[in-house]
Amino acid sequence: MVSNHLQVPGHVAIIMDGNGRWANGHNLPRAAGHNAGVKALRKIAEHCVDRKIDILTVYAFSSENWRRPEKEVSLLMELFMSSLKSEAQDLHKNNIVLRFIGERTVFPEKLQATIADAEALTADNTGLSLVIAANYGGRWDIVTACKKLAEKTKSAEIDVSNIDEALLNRTMCLGDLIAPDLFIRTGGEKRISNFLLWQLAYTELYFTDILWPDFGAEQLDEAVAWFSERQRRFGRTAEQVR
Ligand code: IPE
Ligand code: IPE
Ligand code: MG
Repeated sequence: MVSNHLQVPGHVAIIMDGNGRWANGHNLPRAAGHNAGVKALRKIAEHCVDRKIDILTVYAFSSENWRRPEKEVSLLMELFMSSLKSEAQDLHKNNIVLRFIGERTVFPEKLQATIADAEALTADNTGLSLVIAANYGGRWDIVTACKKLAEKTKSAEIDVSNIDEALLNRTMCLGDLIAPDLFIRTGGEKRISNFLLWQLAYTELYFTDILWPDFGAEQLDEAVAWFSERQRRFGRTAEQVR
């Protein structure tokens, strides 16, 4: 149980890993694991609303996931499409703002249009921000922001001396939001896999062996309880923070 005195993170970022192993363990095809993964995300988003978490950012497809067998990639694209179509209205009714980060221009055009429609439909909502990282890579994010700033110096819109951490941050994905407070990776691996490299600089990192389709409300509460016990020092001493 999460009690009232717990410090709830404002922004939770999750690497939803372990769908394939979950499917293997149940003697099912990998596709079934990804379907179960979508269901898990739906439940976690609802639970974030209940827990008054403001932002949930999830890694749905990395810039490296194109290296998977073609069949799995196209299956995932179809799953994005069908889930978006079936869930968008529900998310909207729940006052959720849906946003996508990542290089979307390489997606099938129909998918790009569905993404844009879902973002437009939910843009004025005021509840949970659900950010889906699709064809996202942390290095891509940094390089893209650098290019934008280089263009601005070229056109004399800014001077090189204007470039600082705050400006670069604003130019990157999620630049208008608070940085993630709590990072969760399911599936047992202890790596970042090119997720939010810049944005995770001072995030509390939580790793669990639980496979993503098995990660539910109770497991999120456990992670929040763990987060609540962290002392965030941001470079200061423990005495200074106390
Ligand atoms: C995460 O689960 C989902 C995506 C990367 C799309 P995986 O598919 O990586 O599951 P495992 O790691 O093979 O178990
Ligand atoms: C990270 O999981 C990406 C997503 C969950 C979308 P992977 O399963 O692709 O990560 P690696 O390849 O094991 O590092
Ligand atoms: Mg994996």
